[in-house]
Amino acid sequence: MAQIGTDTRVAKEFLEAGNVVGIPTETVYGLAGNALNLDAVLTIFRVKNRPSFDPLIVHTDSLAKLDQFVTDIPEPARKLAETYWPGPLTLLLPKRDLIPDLVTAGLHRVAVRIPNHPLTLALLRSLDFPLAAPSANPFGYISPTTAQHVADQLGDQIPYILDGGPAGIGLESTIVGFENNKATVFRLGGMALEQIEQIIGPVSVQTHSTSNPKAPGMLSSHYAPRKPLILVAPGETPEPSERAGALVFRELFGGFHSENQRILSPTGDLNEAAKNLFAYLRALDALPIDVIYAEPMPNQGLGWAINDRLRRASVQ
Ligand code: TXA
Ligand code: MG
Repeated sequence: MAQIGTDTRVAKEFLEAGNVVGIPTETVYGLAGNALNLDAVLTIFRVKNRPSFDPLIVHTDSLAKLDQFVTDIPEPARKLAETYWPGPLTLLLPKRDLIPDLVTAGLHRVAVRIPNHPLTLALLRSLDFPLAAPSANPFGYISPTTAQHVADQLGDQIPYILDGGPAGIGLESTIVGFENNKATVFRLGGMALEQIEQIIGPVSVQTHSTSNPKAPGMLSSHYAPRKPLILVAPGETPEPSERAGALVFRELFGGFHSENQRILSPTGDLNEAAKNLFAYLRALDALPIDVIYAEPMPNQGLGWAINDRLRRASVQ
């Protein structure tokens, strides 16, 4: 069973020996390994039960190191990186040969980000290689936002989980790619579209794809609890039933047992809702209920990304 601790030196030793460990980030916990070590990368895919066509994000701690991994940083990418890194933003950039094809699933671009978590930044600074890290959940399940979530699902397969407390943002990073200096968002996430557009102007959003996805976070069934989840139409309240639960924005649904419901943010704060989303979905998934109803969020700020996750988690 994985040891849970706060010692970056222990994590460093395991990583240098080619093992994979759980790491905290501000978005969700990652399952990290040496991105330049094929065995470590293969271990990540095996532990997550992840298909090898689904590429991994490479994490580093400084813009200065980025040049070792990518051949070019288009102007809008540089502006975003300088403004928002460390932060919940992943950029797709043309990779150098140093980055193994296994990491990018053969694509010529590598996904990179500088995560904003003090423990993980300290860990990255202490290493002489970058970390490949997908979210630390079994493929297709809800991403972990605490060390305990990681231990619950992957604890018997990894030696160590670095505990950095609950994730401050709670949604995976926003993924942005560039073509001729034009930016496209491939995954809505912890950095709101408005924040991106404020720096580089209007961007296109291309997050839906059923086959051959550019970013498999785009697969329509993803991030799902085991119980069927039904996304309610805006403003509607579902028929109450004994064995139904609900994930609601500000107020309980009438007629449902209150212990079968979770309120994402009583004050209507979408950042708070994002932070609670995955932990509450896990909690509802563990209750003796047969179905989870979810109320959609307003389409603004992180509401877009929350609605995206609820849609993908829902039966459709
Ligand atoms: O917030 C996050 O991004 C977290 C933390 C741990 O950093 N990581 C994360 O990784 O969510 P993962 O593997 O669960 O999701 C990464 C997404 C996948 O959907 C993958 O397909 C996409 O990034 N991706 C990775 N490399 C890519 C590439 N070269 N081109 C297009 N999409 C890529
Ligand atoms: Mg994931």
